[in-house]
Amino acid sequence: MKIVIYGAYGYQGRLVLAQLARHDTEIVLAGRDARRLAADAGGRETRVAALTDHDALVAAFRGADAVINCAGPFTPSGTAVARAAIAAGCHYTDTSGEQLHVKRIYDTVSADAERAGVIVTPAMTDGGVPGDLLARLLSEHLGGGPLHEVLAGHRVSGGGGMSRGSMRSLFGTVDVLKSGGLAYEDGEWRADVQPRLSSLTFPGDSPVPAVRFALNEVVTIPHHLEVAHVQGFVEAELAALFSDAIPEETIAAQPEGPDGDTRRGERWTIVVQATTPDGHRAGAWAEGPDTYGTTAVMAAEGTLRLSGPPGVRAPAEVLRPAAFLDALAPYGITWKVGRPA
Ligand SMILES: NC(=O)c1ccc[n+]([C@@H]2O[C@H](COP(=O)([O-])OP(=O)(O)OC[C@H]3O[C@@H](n4cnc5c(N)ncnc54)[C@H](OP(=O)(O)O)[C@@H]3O)[C@@H](O)[C@H]2O)c1
Repeated sequence: MKIVIYGAYGYQGRLVLAQLARHDTEIVLAGRDARRLAADAGGRETRVAALTDHDALVAAFRGADAVINCAGPFTPSGTAVARAAIAAGCHYTDTSGEQLHVKRIYDTVSADAERAGVIVTPAMTDGGVPGDLLARLLSEHLGGGPLHEVLAGHRVSGGGGMSRGSMRSLFGTVDVLKSGGLAYEDGEWRADVQPRLSSLTFPGDSPVPAVRFALNEVVTIPHHLEVAHVQGFVEAELAALFSDAIPEETIAAQPEGPDGDTRRGERWTIVVQATTPDGHRAGAWAEGPDTYGTTAVMAAEGTLRLSGPPGVRAPAEVLRPAAFLDALAPYGITWKVGRPA
């Protein structure tokens, strides 16, 4: 397989490169700065293309099987990279955590991807993949029929905080985050909805206050499950970090991201609960270390395993959920479906 990493010399791009390099995969580094690409290439091919130059992007992607886009913030420009990947006949994944971007990809490029015979799966991240896969497994656990609601919650603790790129992405959409973002209600995505819960219970802990949040699962889960309501939540303590935008000068003065040792001290947990129309309920969780390291694993391993019908597809449609989650065990990631919720 030949894979182009766009935004390859960024903090997350370099982690994706390191993870892909564990495989017998041809890797091409792409981005807008020839000098920085060459510095990281280690003898690999590099291709230079600006986000605003569609033809250059298509030329940079031509001949590859897939593109992994790590060039955030994605809300302003991620769709351009997806469109170029489709035009070049490549599958597309990205490391976005921006709900607006993910929704726009689902809304705008699906028909083109189907015509081109390629798979487009945004949000191949620590935050975007496990909750979507757990929701599918919970649905099967509950008999595979329609669901009344699916609620997903995230918690992150420890570690060295966010990369500069994450800060730019999150604080660039701080109004969306403060509003709680989109929820799925009876066939449409809406922002003006009441939260369906006010606390989350993470494994081995007592309930903690939670608020509605712009999670990607809210976009992806209704794509493959018949469900009336989907909402995303984070621990209120985490959401409080996003109460005010941080100016670019402050972000630019931060380190590019946490170092490896600090990252490995971080823990993430995702809980999902699903309820059937007749009130049967079950829960699931996944947890692991190092959100950026996990995102590199999700993006690299997920892209290598993409299979299924072309179009814009949720993680659960292009990965085998239980097998994929099991394959993450060497990275310290554990999961369980069916705990009482
Ligand atoms: N769970 C999650 O949701 C999750 C987890 C991990 C990462 N992420 C996301 O991944 C993204 C990357 O994070 P990061 O820490 O790697 O950021 P970063 O270090 O700032 O790297 C961003 C990369 O994108 C490139 N880029 C940005 N704007 C560009 C433009 N207009 N044209 C061409 N290239 C451009 C940068 O190149 P230049 O330096 O030349 O600008 C750089 O290579 C962020 O959006 C972050 O939120 C999300």
